[in-house]
Amino acid sequence: MNTSYSRIIKNAFEEVKALPDAGELATYIPELANVDPSKLGVHMTCIDGNHFGIGHDLHKFSIQSIAKVLSLTLAYKIVGEPLWERVDVEPSGTKFDSLLLLESYRGIPRNPFINSGAIVICDILMTHLKDTKVEFLEFVRELSDLPELNYSDKIADSEKRTGYRNVALCNFIKSFGNITNEPEEVLDFYFDMCSLEMTCQEVSRTFGFLANEGCKISDGTKIITKNKCKRINALMLTCGFYDESGEFAFRVGLPGKSGVGGGIVALYPKNYAMVVWSPKLNKHGNSYKGMELLEKVTTHSEMSIF
Ligand code: DON
Repeated sequence: MNTSYSRIIKNAFEEVKALPDAGELATYIPELANVDPSKLGVHMTCIDGNHFGIGHDLHKFSIQSIAKVLSLTLAYKIVGEPLWERVDVEPSGTKFDSLLLLESYRGIPRNPFINSGAIVICDILMTHLKDTKVEFLEFVRELSDLPELNYSDKIADSEKRTGYRNVALCNFIKSFGNITNEPEEVLDFYFDMCSLEMTCQEVSRTFGFLANEGCKISDGTKIITKNKCKRINALMLTCGFYDESGEFAFRVGLPGKSGVGGGIVALYPKNYAMVVWSPKLNKHGNSYKGMELLEKVTTHSEMSIF
């Protein structure tokens, strides 16, 4: 690892730790309200295999929507370009769980990272895989080198009891014919997918292939082609933060993806995958301190895609 990265991360961590945390926990999923809001961790994995972390980077957290990048990767790998007939590649400019644009676009979600788009991706995976939950889990186990990784029943059950907006989204899309399986089964998989728990170190390792032109960092296994990798990175840049995607690109200058568990993964192509976790969210559903920290790292290192 370039030693200046570890120094820059350490400084950014200390600066952000000292800041008052303006955010709120994602209480709409009851289990996420029980998380210690003062947690702060960051971990960077470079494509040369070196890695560095600080703070609570070895504590597991609920990765939530960060998993949507992994489900998209698997669906894109299986289906190829026809995938984009079912889901678009445009920023939505709306909240992650919004129903608004589905009426105008007749059940085609604007992109695969808003809830509606991720639900359609789950439907596609269910059509192509025999045992979707098991096969998706195996895919993430391979990417993460975590053979014991499992869904969290506690988090999934908590969301299954309260996820009324997702139920509405899935049924609404079904009314336009863009969900082919039973909504109840699609949602069951969607909630499990969002329930994965990992540490910052593990998530940064898992996402290494997207910083490494589609190949796993640990053993060079090709997960996806360079071109598919380019497109997933482009979607993360333009749609990874919902109606705050422009702000993230403006402040941080990297492709990334957030989750309501307070995690953010950011990728510097051909360099590193970095993950920060701080549970309190800003009003757009993105980690308040997470964004601050990433902005400091790219500003102080003067390294971003721009
Ligand atoms: O469906 C939901 O609302 C959650 N399981 C995931 C939302 C999420 O992480 C949005 N990200 N910022």
